[in-house]
Amino acid sequence: KVLVVDFGGQYNQLVARRVRECNVYCEIVSYRVGIEAIRAQKPKGIIFTGGPNSVYVDGAPSIDPAIFEMGVPVLGLCYGCQLMMHELGGHVCKAPEREYGKTLVHVNTDSEIFAGVSPDTICWMSHNDYVETAAPGFTISAYTDNCPVAAAEMPEKNLYALQFHPEVLHTPEGKTMLHNFVYRVCGCKGDWKMDSFVETSVKALREKIGSGKVLCALSGGVDSSVAAAMLSKAVGKQLTCVFVDHGLLRKNEMEEVCEVFGPNGQFELNFVCVNARQRFYDKLAGVEEPEKKRKIIGEEFIRVFEEEAKKIGAVDFLAQGTIYPDVVESGLGGESTVIKSHHNVGGLPDYVDFKEIVEPLRDLFKDETRQAGRELGLPEYLVSRQPFPGPGLAIRIIGAVTPEKVKMVQEADAIWREEIAKAGLDKSISQYYAALTNMRSVGVMGDERTYDYAVALRAVTTTDFMTAEAAEIPWSVLQTVTSRIVNEVKHINRVLYDCTGKPPATIEFE
Ligand code: XMP
Repeated sequence: KVLVVDFGGQYNQLVARRVRECNVYCEIVSYRVGIEAIRAQKPKGIIFTGGPNSVYVDGAPSIDPAIFEMGVPVLGLCYGCQLMMHELGGHVCKAPEREYGKTLVHVNTDSEIFAGVSPDTICWMSHNDYVETAAPGFTISAYTDNCPVAAAEMPEKNLYALQFHPEVLHTPEGKTMLHNFVYRVCGCKGDWKMDSFVETSVKALREKIGSGKVLCALSGGVDSSVAAAMLSKAVGKQLTCVFVDHGLLRKNEMEEVCEVFGPNGQFELNFVCVNARQRFYDKLAGVEEPEKKRKIIGEEFIRVFEEEAKKIGAVDFLAQGTIYPDVVESGLGGESTVIKSHHNVGGLPDYVDFKEIVEPLRDLFKDETRQAGRELGLPEYLVSRQPFPGPGLAIRIIGAVTPEKVKMVQEADAIWREEIAKAGLDKSISQYYAALTNMRSVGVMGDERTYDYAVALRAVTTTDFMTAEAAEIPWSVLQTVTSRIVNEVKHINRVLYDCTGKPPATIEFE
């Protein structure tokens, strides 16, 4: 495997992604783990990431320079490049000209890293400091108008340094460079594949769990479904999945989950489907404040889950569908600052009797998780599902939740989703749904005056869900959806389209 040593840069996950796209397994470790921990992992190659610091400042993130003598190839990117130069005797200082954005770089195509790359290529630069002089023994293999050392290398020791970011798509030939590093320099074979990942994970889970019992809270979302499928493959009936229907799911969602994981499905496991709808509706009655609604649902969810767990008795493992971005986001795996606190329903139940947590997807990115789900035989509608918030439709019904309103929003949402898919827009929109506003307005239907609710349609495009833009929906699609909703869904007489981006709005309404 290849190790990505994290110095706090914002593209670190991307670096790991690109390496895995070369079918080479890769993990990210913090520079703080130190050289011995890195050596112990016996990596075939090491990549230093970028980072926000200046290498020459006291206390800047650093690593024992003995790492360059381990006989393992090292590729330094941006901060990592500067660190390598600085530690080995080069000179790094504030650049007279800050470089940011797409930059023309002249590269020496005789270099192993630049094999197959055009001599003049566009690379993404983002740096305030620069390497003024390369470390002794290094040759300069790329430069720009403002940057005398855009790349340097010492091939006899397999040390390579790039000032720019090959991992981002703005560096069109970056993939080739990373490919060259892992194949030509590190000698990786590229035999890591999703099916082998699934196979090895299933085997490892079997070993870890032995004859133990496993309990898994299944939400019907991608991550918990894939985790459940993998555990079922590993330990079959030793696994019990509890699915709580809180009455705030999308239309037919409960039925779909039961079809896949229930007794008539293809997976071997104990499946418990809890109909807790009324409990949630009772608790939510009259509650209008969004945060209060979220809290009630989170707490009630845990309570229902605990009650079910009590019926099952002591278990050895509690399974979680944590995926790699969750690990990094919650600040456990990476150096970058916590981006958002993770908000899945409830967190960990306190009173479930278990010994250990098992997280089969901890090393996977989202699209890899989906791929693993396909390998495990989950249906496409489950693995390609768009994100759905833990509190469900409660945060898509503005104001107090009632069963009647849930029904209205479910129906309107189903029509919206159906028409988006029919128009072939579903792949290009990141998330779309209908929300029920608490605005009632006057309308006319036939000869009758109506006084009914307005539904708001939302559709956004985004890559990271931290920022988003309202999607451009063809007018004809909006018209079809509007007329279907007002005709088919009782008590809705107006349809609005939300044009707001995030910021200033959020993706959800509450
Ligand atoms: P916002 O509304 O914060 O949403 O822009 C960003 C993304 O997060 C999802 N979301 C949630 N997911 N539990 C979840 O598991 C929640 O409480 C929750 N709230 C928002 C939202 O659907 C969007 O994809």
